[in-house]
Amino acid sequence: MVEVIVQALQSLYLFIPAFAANSAAVISGGHGKMDFGKNFPDGRRILGDGKTWSGFLGGSLMAGLLGVILYLLLLAFPVFLNYPDIYHAALGSLALSFGSLTGDTLGSFVKRRIGIQRGGKGYLLDQLPFVLVALLFLAIIYNSFFMEAFFNLVSIVVLVVVTPPLHKAVNVLGYKLNKKEVPW
Ligand code: CTP
Ligand code: MG
Repeated sequence: MVEVIVQALQSLYLFIPAFAANSAAVISGGHGKMDFGKNFPDGRRILGDGKTWSGFLGGSLMAGLLGVILYLLLLAFPVFLNYPDIYHAALGSLALSFGSLTGDTLGSFVKRRIGIQRGGKGYLLDQLPFVLVALLFLAIIYNSFFMEAFFNLVSIVVLVVVTPPLHKAVNVLGYKLNKKEVPW
């Protein structure tokens, strides 16, 4: 039981670069439409005005940097992983943050294709693609870290179950702080 709780908390902590990237993109976003304002052959926007390069790059880099700091803090607690020099901390953190916003972009692409407007509620499309693609990027770029930190039932279940309510809480907070126009 104790091991399960430790595993759950550890995977949530290590996944912070992916969670934080979405919030950081709201802060840095707004400049340079990723789809250059263009439509897809179905007549709808490819991605929409909610996906900008400043959000994608700024969000990934800010969250990546936050992750490096958080991962290096683990050096103070060597009980956890065989962790990391700064290069490996950056590799893992940036894989998660860039993967997260790549998944977020894919989610928007699918939302547009099924006719949901920019900012419209996408339910799981707002909440799962970023988790899955963040894990995929990590699995490709830094497989040993992925295997050690996330490739187990507890971690996967915790990330999938905790993400939707966490997403909701962050968005309601953003709405209350007047950072977002809608509370989802
Ligand atoms: N954002 C951005 N660039 C990104 C991701 C996010 O500029 N690559 C900013 C935008 O200002 C966006 C806000 O963060 O409106 C919230 O992100 P998100 O909820 O993902 O976008 P939505 O506006 O809801 O658009 P979509 O329906 O496409 O998800
Ligand atoms: Mg949204």
